[in-house]
Amino acid sequence: HIAGPCALVFFGVSGDLSRKKLLPAVYDLANRGLLPPGFGLVGVARRDYTDTQFAEIVKGYVQENARTPFNDETWKQLVAGIRFVWGDFDDGSTFERLHDTLDELDARQGTGGNHAFYLSVPPSRFGVVIDQLTSHRMTDQSTGWKRVVIEKPFGHDLASSRELYATLSKAFPAESVFRIDHYLGKETVQNLLALRFSNQMFEPIWNNNYVSHVQITMAEDIGIGGRAGYYDGIGAARDVIQNHLLQLMALTAMEEPNSFDATQLRIEKQKVLAATRVPADLDAHTARGQYAAGWQGGSSVIGYLDEEGIAPDSVTETYAAVRFDIDTRRWAGVPFYLRAAKRMPRRVTEIALMFKRAPHLPFNNTETRELGTNALVLRIQPDEGVSMHFGAKVPATAMEIRQVSMDFAYADSFNETSPEAYERLILDVLLGEPPLFPQQEEVELSWKLLDPVLAHWATRGRPEQYTSGTWGPAGGARMLANDGFVWRRP
Ligand code: BG6
Repeated sequence: HIAGPCALVFFGVSGDLSRKKLLPAVYDLANRGLLPPGFGLVGVARRDYTDTQFAEIVKGYVQENARTPFNDETWKQLVAGIRFVWGDFDDGSTFERLHDTLDELDARQGTGGNHAFYLSVPPSRFGVVIDQLTSHRMTDQSTGWKRVVIEKPFGHDLASSRELYATLSKAFPAESVFRIDHYLGKETVQNLLALRFSNQMFEPIWNNNYVSHVQITMAEDIGIGGRAGYYDGIGAARDVIQNHLLQLMALTAMEEPNSFDATQLRIEKQKVLAATRVPADLDAHTARGQYAAGWQGGSSVIGYLDEEGIAPDSVTETYAAVRFDIDTRRWAGVPFYLRAAKRMPRRVTEIALMFKRAPHLPFNNTETRELGTNALVLRIQPDEGVSMHFGAKVPATAMEIRQVSMDFAYADSFNETSPEAYERLILDVLLGEPPLFPQQEEVELSWKLLDPVLAHWATRGRPEQYTSGTWGPAGGARMLANDGFVWRRP
């Protein structure tokens, strides 16, 4: 589908995300022929750029970070609709200039009053931008569609997520609000639905008759880099469990939706989140940690507390693990373990269904603990694919069994390259396609699950330290050992 005529306005266009992801994604969409000839791209920031200077900056970002090769024709088309509006969000005149710019684009580029406002700004600024858009009559749906795009965090707890929603609702109807959870834009996450619901062989074993527990891991090798201002006080649970990992859990655990439209998907995810229970013993069933100095990829790295901009007594966690139980017939008795961390040995996100042991092993070599246990691992990234782990007979032995795996790798099976998650999501905003965007109900349910965990941690002082480049604090391992399991080493 090709988007119809419209203008896309980026607030906070001088930020890192715009440079690395958003602007290159817009270019890639243009290059793939998915943007309309009548397209406008407007940057708003507190910089003194002309349209031409801004276009040059965008070009630099595109050449640095776009997925598709630079094409002069595409660029010529795109640049005709690039505009820059300088100014502060608190200053009404910024929005007057924006209004004029959009009028000009509507007239000249034929963008038809269809405007998407992408708020790539700190959450504390959402309110002021929304109010200014409203008071400058830029949210009026009768003169073309108006949509708003927001980046997480969607609040920092249940109460603030509701306040944010109240702010947004004053200006935009629910169907015009697009919340970005870029994990839902990933091909491999969408493939989870394909795997489950377009095949016959997985669903029959996708339940507590066969699955013993589920491990969802999001490990990153990087530290917090230059993001201290954002990350400190937020931590791993708010940063990625509240959104990415709980979404992965919901997609893994949900029933088959009636269709893939946004409402049906939301209904099924919502049922899972509403049936999810926070552990009663939070000391035993959660873990948190903070990275200390260590080694990463052959070089020494500093600890979290020594990172620039971090208070020496910060209690922000860079490792978070939580057990959730889902009280449904399908999942009763199957714990879901979610862990997210920085400064792990490698970057990997995966969903692993760990199966129960075979009830009887007729062979005499029971010494390996994995023997008779199987796993189905969905590798979200990198090495995108799916692997199945099971036992096989070692050749030339009487009947020795060893764990082997069978692999599907995107890179081997497809020639098509995956678009960047943001490409898909930005296009869906312009098309008005909401299935890949979490809705308010899911956001609130996710906070309901995390709030008690965060409140508990707040009473527990400093997180446990773990050496950078290791798989996390002892508490993380203990949490699974309490239940008789071990974390996978992906
Ligand atoms: C973001 C988090 O949502 O996801 C970051 O705020 C994290 O802390 C990033 O690094 C990871 O994204 P990806 O796509 O590289 O897994």
